[in-house]
Amino acid sequence: MFSVVVLISGGGSNLRALLTAAASPLYPAKVVAVGSDKAATGLEHAEEFGVPTFVVEPSRFESREAWAEVLLSNIEFHKPDLVVLAGFMRVLPANIVDKLSPRMINLHPSLLPDFPGANAVADALAAGASETGATIHIVDEGVDTGKVLSQASIPVAPGISEIDLHEQIKLLEQEQLVQAVSDIATGSLLLTEKEQNA
Ligand code: GRF
Repeated sequence: MFSVVVLISGGGSNLRALLTAAASPLYPAKVVAVGSDKAATGLEHAEEFGVPTFVVEPSRFESREAWAEVLLSNIEFHKPDLVVLAGFMRVLPANIVDKLSPRMINLHPSLLPDFPGANAVADALAAGASETGATIHIVDEGVDTGKVLSQASIPVAPGISEIDLHEQIKLLEQEQLVQAVSDIATGSLLLTEKEQNA
């Protein structure tokens, strides 16, 4: 069975959507572990679904690279076919990206390349965007710069708050994530040029 490790930092609504989908015997992928950089509340979803968790906190290490080595060994222990960053709010250093990319994807709450970075929803509102959305992309060494795999858009309602807009985007992200992981698992969405040219 195609196996996925999910990394989170927050509430984990996207993680929960994936765990719920993967609980069906018809879904082609399984979440084998969930990791975090802190005691994130979203880890409770993993526990509820009986999925093992790990926490690797950067503050316990002398460098980002040392932290990433331990994070990588926790991930690799589960031998995943894919790593999903679902609200994981850390930029990963090259030593981990080189090992895992392109089999590592990220969810981002904007229509990339518009509004990369940690404040995408606020930035879209501040710019007066009439439309925004969600992107799934391959993780590379940049901040939200990797190859785009899928996007979904919604209109920005006049006067909507950042919190409400982000909630709307998260609903899009949840659907998109469940679909993208399924497509990658079944081979209908290919991550490498080698796969695409095969
Ligand atoms: C999502 O909007 C994701 O795109 C962003 O952080 C949010 C995580 O939400 N990077 P949740 O923890 O899955 O509820």
